[in-house]
Amino acid sequence: MDCFQYRNGQLFCEDVNLDDLASRVGTPAYVYSRRTLQEHYDRLAKAFAALKPIICYSIKSCGNVHICKLLGERGAGMDVVSGGELFRAKLAGVPMGKVVYAGVGKTDAEIRAAIEAKIGWFNIESEAEFENIAAIAKQMGATANAALRVNPDVYDAKTHAKTSTGKKETKFGVDIERARRFFEHYGRDKHLKLNAIHLHIGSPIYSADPYVQAITKALELIDELRNQGHTISALDIGGGFAADYESGASPDAANYAEAIVPLLEKFHKEGGTIILEPGRTIAANSGILLSRVQYIKMGGKKKFVIVDTGMHHLVRPTLYDSFHFIWPTKVSPMHTPTGRSKEMNLPGLELCDVVGPICESGDFLAKERPLPPVARGDLVAIFTAGAYGMVMASNYNAMPRPPEVLIDGGKAIVIRRRETYDDLVQQEREAVPV
Ligand SMILES: Cc1ncc(COP(=O)(O)O)c(C=O)c1O
Repeated sequence: MDCFQYRNGQLFCEDVNLDDLASRVGTPAYVYSRRTLQEHYDRLAKAFAALKPIICYSIKSCGNVHICKLLGERGAGMDVVSGGELFRAKLAGVPMGKVVYAGVGKTDAEIRAAIEAKIGWFNIESEAEFENIAAIAKQMGATANAALRVNPDVYDAKTHAKTSTGKKETKFGVDIERARRFFEHYGRDKHLKLNAIHLHIGSPIYSADPYVQAITKALELIDELRNQGHTISALDIGGGFAADYESGASPDAANYAEAIVPLLEKFHKEGGTIILEPGRTIAANSGILLSRVQYIKMGGKKKFVIVDTGMHHLVRPTLYDSFHFIWPTKVSPMHTPTGRSKEMNLPGLELCDVVGPICESGDFLAKERPLPPVARGDLVAIFTAGAYGMVMASNYNAMPRPPEVLIDGGKAIVIRRRETYDDLVQQEREAVPV
């Protein structure tokens, strides 16, 4: 779970009263719990401890440099997908040998920066990309490690189509048959050493079973490749471990580890390195989006709760039909939530659509959601918003992005200030002929 809990009808993050916080930092605001981030990282590290894995936190899920730094200090490496994320990892002081770099469209400049930084592995997505990275490494007189991203053709039926990546027909990786030819062709390159396999089957994956299927196929492939004389020193099993969007509905780190660790023990004992790339399972429950009700409006029989945030700050509901539990931060005893779920069985709830100020009908955070009565000026918390929240926020409709605040016990620290109108036009101040 997490450190966002009600005490006598008031929502706290760790020891900070969120109504007090809102009066100091304003709304909307992303609020993260340091303790939850650390506990989530630690629980994963503990669950997989037998494999001594490199846990590469997936920066794309929540990239604030202060958050990367605190996870780096706990031992995390980083999973990056761009030069910008590599820059963040460096700023956070993460050892570059614990960085893996995925993504189908790495540019030459990004590749050079990653080779210079001496990152751990490039996760290779295609033949053309391998040839390009190998050529750049050769030009630079450098060597780098590469993991081939293999697409094991397994998927979780519950994963949204837009975040499912393990099927044959995705833009990611190569299928197993092609992986064999890949190693035959490129497996002995001197500058880009193809010595690892990378998997990432989607996000979130709601059971251990798809991992078991994918890892089993990867281990068979590794055996074959080793028999042909290739050195395979690492297996990166990707990310995708679920978060607790609805109380108790998702497996936790120990559930995944129970099924995955026994499969990989032999590979590990023979000297193989295991890499994990978790994002959501660490960050999602570590953050909420705090927002104030602007207006209540009826539309026919429908009740709209219009808040000061929306798809521009949290796009997941409209992009993926995602569920985020939403609840007022101050409630009477009968409305103190006992869990987080779509169906709350409490007296006096009303069905509402929670919507934002953006000029799009797609700008909603929840539809037909049972809520305690709320009025203009009330604060609401949008839970489990720490992952794929702020990182996907935009300035659409010229709305400044919210601040990010890190709570540490009773202290609140602004780790990204609220954007201003001036920030919105900074890059447009001059018109430069080229
Ligand atoms: C290659 C890769 N690794 C790791 C992740 C992190 O996934 P999650 O945040 O679900 O753990 C992603 C997410 O898209 C990804 O594409």
